Amino acid sequence: MDLNKDQIMMNLKNKIDSVKNLEDFKVLKSEFLGKKGQVTQLMKNISKIDKEKKKEYGQKVNQLKSEIEDVLNSFMEELNEKKKKSEELKDWVDVTVRGAKNSYGKEHLINKTIRESFEIFTNLGFTVVEGNEIEEPWFNFDALNTPEWHPARDMQDTFYLNLEKTLLRTHTSGVQIRTMTKMNPPIAVVSSGRVYRKDEIDATHSAMFYQLEGLFIDKKVTVGNLRKFLEIYTKKMFGDSLKVLLRPSYFPFVEPGFEVDVSCINCGGKGCSVCKNTGWIEVLGAGLVHPNVLKNVGFDPDEWQGLAFGVGVERIAMLKYGVSNMREFFKNDIRFVE
Ligand code: DAH
Repeated sequence: MDLNKDQIMMNLKNKIDSVKNLEDFKVLKSEFLGKKGQVTQLMKNISKIDKEKKKEYGQKVNQLKSEIEDVLNSFMEELNEKKKKSEELKDWVDVTVRGAKNSYGKEHLINKTIRESFEIFTNLGFTVVEGNEIEEPWFNFDALNTPEWHPARDMQDTFYLNLEKTLLRTHTSGVQIRTMTKMNPPIAVVSSGRVYRKDEIDATHSAMFYQLEGLFIDKKVTVGNLRKFLEIYTKKMFGDSLKVLLRPSYFPFVEPGFEVDVSCINCGGKGCSVCKNTGWIEVLGAGLVHPNVLKNVGFDPDEWQGLAFGVGVERIAMLKYGVSNMREFFKNDIRFVE
């Protein structure tokens, strides 16, 4: 009986090459080792073998069987290994790949400046109040001692609405009147928001900008009080070495009135291009509330006095954060905000 072991093994190895999965493998295995498989067939053939060669033949078949088993077993292991790897690959994460970038919002410098200012004043006992962007002339002008004939009204000409019954407020000072008609003294409030003027737009002017208004009403309020509040505010904003200068100026709703300068944040007061060589930079208007304004809201000026101030928010933000052009605040360029 013919038992060509080499050929059988060769045949097995050839067939194994085309096994792709467990199903193929099972088919192949039964082809060699199954009930009707080649090895079983060879075993059956032992009856046809001469008596004296039976033993040798049997041994050969058994050896063939165990070799086939070895080959199949190690192939099975390989197959399992491959399967495991491909499953692992499915869950594989490449930690070196750049992740999706999360973008976080940033606080706009105007909001930041307003928030920081509010923090300073609320720590001093001030309350934050809201004003109206669309205002009535009475609150924006008349009650602030600026009647219709007043030249200061021209200077702040603005956008009228509704047959001049309302207007876009030209400053936040109207909040003073709204507050005093609602609250009884003593009063300490701050308010901030947009104001509008028919200004030509340039590096330091815009038709819309932000102001921050403060009002303090109590008995025996003095310029000394005003000065102290403003010193605390500007020093907290810009640093302790800063000096404050009150320059007499005119605003219809205060008496005396001041334009308030701080020593130049850039050069420390020596003189540079930022302060136009003066050593000082104007940041706000202020004064003691005019008796007429107090009368307009029904307060007795002999009993109550007040101080008020109006801060240019962009001014503060430009100085504090070194912004050279006011338009940057409103261009909505994300790189600027970042
Ligand atoms: N409202 C003024 C302006 O827009 C600024 C100002 C000056 C506000 C004096 C005040 C003040 O409260 O007392 O130019």
